[in-house]
Amino acid sequence: MVDDIKKRILITGINGMLGQDLAPVLNSQYSISGIDLQAGDSRYAFFCCDITDAEGLKKVFEEIKPWLIIHAAAFTDVDGCEKYPEKAEAINVQGTRNIVGLCREYNIKLIYISTDYVFDGEKLSAYTESDPTSPLNVYGRTKLLGEEFVLTGLTDGLIVRTSWLFGKGGKNFVKTIIAKSAQADVLKVVNDQRGSPTHTVSLSLALRELIRSVFLKPAKSENYGVYHVSNSENCTWYEFAKTIVDLCDINVDLVAVDSTQLARPAKRPRRSILDNSRYEQITKNKLCPWRQALQSYLSDR
Ligand SMILES: NC(=O)c1ccc[n+]([C@@H]2O[C@H](COP(=O)([O-])OP(=O)(O)OC[C@H]3O[C@@H](n4cnc5c(N)ncnc54)[C@H](OP(=O)(O)O)[C@@H]3O)[C@@H](O)[C@H]2O)c1
Repeated sequence: MVDDIKKRILITGINGMLGQDLAPVLNSQYSISGIDLQAGDSRYAFFCCDITDAEGLKKVFEEIKPWLIIHAAAFTDVDGCEKYPEKAEAINVQGTRNIVGLCREYNIKLIYISTDYVFDGEKLSAYTESDPTSPLNVYGRTKLLGEEFVLTGLTDGLIVRTSWLFGKGGKNFVKTIIAKSAQADVLKVVNDQRGSPTHTVSLSLALRELIRSVFLKPAKSENYGVYHVSNSENCTWYEFAKTIVDLCDINVDLVAVDSTQLARPAKRPRRSILDNSRYEQITKNKLCPWRQALQSYLSDR
């Protein structure tokens, strides 16, 4: 049921890893509806809709009349995007173009979830929102094209770039390390890519803060545009894995390797740490360190 009193938020990709934590975080304050390819949690009004289908999307927008869209649906398999670039283009670029077009037509606010992979990872310090982008792979390129539609199509859109997500509702690095350790005594993990693991609950709470600070206050044009939001502090994938096995008391030998030793279809940035200062200034909030977020995720599992 769609609530008539609360402001309506429509989440695309509501059954994905972020969507599954975001919907309950926003649910007490807003009326939540979702779009995805398959039905999920029955607490939320659900619309089975492919975002590449502009007509189908229009019907959903007309029925819900949302106040805000949080656009999290994407083709997120980074190596899969390399293998199926047309699919990545259709979902991440054309799907986002459809959503931006409808937000413009119906005057709906938009938050587009984007990624640290829009950067090439060559900067030695943390990336700010105004740093030049230069994606290394199809996933990053298609997410960046999505960003461009938001920036050129809307005057009051938000783009939230985040990194290395883990959450209870999806395939992620934490689950992979735990599962692989049950099957092998030795695990090779990449030690030459650095970033900030981010818990989907931390990101969801941060999105709630951004909505409060930007959209529930009198409109200020300088508050729109790009934000970086990740858990604080950073690590390599190897250091992340080491922390996971230590916290879970798992007995496995972790071997640090270079990415050249574990060749994968998509090239990844070496250092894609995001500077959260703009988010902190606007919301007067900070995200906790990733280790603390990981502990909380593991204790909830
Ligand atoms: N995961 C990360 O580490 C990470 C890092 C930085 C940024 N991000 C961004 O954060 C957002 C959320 O990521 P996530 O990890 O929650 O992704 P996810 O778990 O892959 O969830 C995405 C959801 O969108 C759905 N979807 C895919 N194509 C669709 C389409 N054409 N129409 C409607 N729904 C569609 C997916 O359904 P299926 O599962 O059935 O395909 C899935 O339920 C994404 O925009 C991603 O680019 C993610």
